[in-house]
Amino acid sequence: MPVPAPDRNAQATPASGNRVALFCTDTASDLAKLAEALRAGQLVAIPTETVYGLAASALDEAACRRIFEVKGRPLLDPLIVHVPDRAAGERLARFDGRAVRLAEAFWPGPLTLVLPKRAAVPAIVTAGKPTVALRSPAHPAARRLLAAAGIPLAAPSANPFGYISPTTAQHVAESLGTRIPWILDGGPCSVGIESTIVALAPDRPARILRPGSISREELSEALGEAVEAAPEEAKSGAAVEAPGMLARHYSPATPAVLFAHGALPAARRGEAAVFQHRREHALDGIEGSSVFWFSESGDPADTARNLYALLRRLDSLGFTRIHIERAAHSPLGDTINDRLRRAATG
Ligand code: TXA
Ligand code: MG
Repeated sequence: MPVPAPDRNAQATPASGNRVALFCTDTASDLAKLAEALRAGQLVAIPTETVYGLAASALDEAACRRIFEVKGRPLLDPLIVHVPDRAAGERLARFDGRAVRLAEAFWPGPLTLVLPKRAAVPAIVTAGKPTVALRSPAHPAARRLLAAAGIPLAAPSANPFGYISPTTAQHVAESLGTRIPWILDGGPCSVGIESTIVALAPDRPARILRPGSISREELSEALGEAVEAAPEEAKSGAAVEAPGMLARHYSPATPAVLFAHGALPAARRGEAAVFQHRREHALDGIEGSSVFWFSESGDPADTARNLYALLRRLDSLGFTRIHIERAAHSPLGDTINDRLRRAATG
């Protein structure tokens, strides 16, 4: 049975009446209800292994328009379409040999492919581009919902545009709970950062548009050819290929400042010090209540999983500044640093 989401903003938004999103789980009856809601053009927040998505039928233009409204997202920033498998993807885009290889190697999973689109995809989904971004998520609840709905689901991350992506159902409820009718609770996301996006344009080498947990090395190995790296710093304006890669993104409201790995200064009163992993000596000479770490173990996969939840928590604690230690260099560490850089800009 769906239950009302515990939504902190509910009282603060009288215009929404008493309606708050209902939490559902992946029981057969809840999934049937959500599948029906999606087919009827409603929005449903869904868990994926990367982050929660705000889903609507990718074939329903009005429903997709509502996604942009609810997120406050510019219409020129295209959506990722979620499909159960490559066969479903082939109805929306043209897969060349490289796309087939990458889908076979990494789907279902945290890889998004940008491919030439077919006519079935409404222009609003792709912001008028001739390409569409496709992903087959691995989260079991997302897969069951895709199967029950029988339609492709357009879903950007389920956060207000520019804010930190959600990795729990509660995160979604906190920022969008009064604006959407349904949240499918699939527990905390196992990866924790958004998918790797790869563009496969005809006659061009494969290019990473957004780094993720699947690394350039893994992609090159699966393809048997070189893959171009993501541009270091996407600037605003016409040159932005994946508009979601604007410099300021994933940002807490509290100013966040990055420091080199191993070079975090002692926190002063009002400031938070955030280490990559547990450091006992961190407590020397500073108030313990302002010291945090992303991971107990130092495994970057743990950092990725905890990254957004800790940034959201820090943002709610009233610090004047958040000082963050960068991750050590590694494929996943570099992706974590990409997200931290965007969280810290501005
Ligand atoms: O892990 C993920 O990818 C999550 C989950 C929910 O699947 N989704 C996600 O969506 O991160 P979103 O909308 O927050 O980010 C999608 C990115 C944006 O930067 C967008 O500009 C880019 O994908 N994108 C979408 N379609 C594109 C296209 N046709 N060409 C280039 N970039 C595209
Ligand atoms: Mg996003």
